[in-house]
This record gives sequence, structure tokens and C-alpha cells, in this order.
Amino acid sequence: MNPSLETIKNRRAIRAYTAQPIERATLEAILDAGRWAPSAMNRQPYRFVVAASPAFRRQLAAAARPYYDKWLANLADDARKRISERNAGMPDPVYYSAAAVVFVIGNGPTAELDCPMVCENMMLAARALGLGSCWVYTGSLVATDPAIKAALGLQEGERIFGPIILGHPQDGFPPPTTRQPLNVRWL
Ligand SMILES: Cc1cc2nc3c(=O)[nH]c(=O)nc-3n(C[C@H](O)[C@H](O)[C@H](O)COP(=O)(O)O)c2cc1C
Repeated sequence: MNPSLETIKNRRAIRAYTAQPIERATLEAILDAGRWAPSAMNRQPYRFVVAASPAFRRQLAAAARPYYDKWLANLADDARKRISERNAGMPDPVYYSAAAVVFVIGNGPTAELDCPMVCENMMLAARALGLGSCWVYTGSLVATDPAIKAALGLQEGERIFGPIILGHPQDGFPPPTTRQPLNVRWL
């Protein structure tokens, strides 16, 4: 199969990581792949914050936990049960103890369209480099925490996309998940 198509099909949401850090050059290569995503009028309305130091990641995970617990408590019964079971016993069910958390911080009218493409480029780059990744929406809920907001330097009008967690997968890459059959009208 074409290597790009292979990377797309073999990317998986990874939720278990080793403690091994990611080299700075590798992180930079992944951010650079994000930077090469297309954007409306090439405005590139985003910046990145990378949490890779163990001390800040510990602070981040601790701050995020109450927001996650509240989010979980408000889910419908079946979703809450599924996610509680999936994440049972995890010390960090938000960022999954990943070696790096990348906040893509967007601003402006096209950020909602542009920034998810940055995120996907980074997840594909990570997979191509043998690293796991996952978009963790629940990791963005901490944006209102004063200490985290200050650390991210979040300004009025800025919004978090992702964050994207990155790390060395503990159990390799699971086989591709299923997808619905193509729903397409050919004209
Ligand atoms: C916008 C978005 C938000 C997501 N948020 C979370 C999350 O908060 N926690 C989590 O464990 N996975 C999260 N995921 C991962 C999805 O659950 C996962 O991509 C999906 O189940 C498909 O599995 P796959 O990525 O392995 O193909 C998110 C994915 C996307 C695209």
C-alpha cells in the first residue's frame, strides 16, 4: 500500500504509554508537520504550547482531573459506563500519562476549520515516526483553571484544539478500527 495511505489507516488513538520521553527533534518534526497543514487564506491562526516536563505534566494532570470527573458525571449512563470501564484504574485518565501534551491554540474566524487539520497532521506524523497519539478533548476542559490558563498564556479569543498527546505506545499499535462503509453519492 502507498506509505501515506498506510499511515492514515494505521493511526490509532493510543491510551497507554511508556515513561520514555520524546526527543526534542522528534517533537519539533511533529509540530512542523502541523505547521504544514493547509489553512484558509494561509492565515495559520494558531500557536503551540508543548507540555513535556514531568513537573508541569504532573501539575496539568492534577488540575485536569476534577474537570474530567465532572464531565464524566454528566455523561449519559451508557457513555459514562463505557468510558469509566475503559479508563478504570488509570492514574491519569485525561492525558494517559503521555510523554508530551501539545496544545494547539487557535484564534480568529477560521480557527475551527484550520486547527483540526493541524492536529490531524501531527497525529499522522507521530504515527509515521512510530509514536502514538490521541486527541483528548477532556484535556482541554482545564483551560479555565487559572494556573493552567496562565501557563498556556491563553488570551481573550483564543481556544484550545486537541490537545494532542504523544508518546511511545506501551502495547504497540492495535489493529485498525472499523469504519462505517463509505456513504457516498456519485454524480
Ligand atoms: C475531536 C476528538 C476528541 C476526542 N476526545 C477524546 C478524549 O477526550 N479522550 C479520549 O480518550 N479519546 C478522545 N478521542 C479519540 C477518539 O475516541 C478516537 O479517535 C475514536 O474512538 C476512533 O478511534 P481511532 O482514533 O483509534 O481510530 C477524541 C477524538 C477526536 C477526533
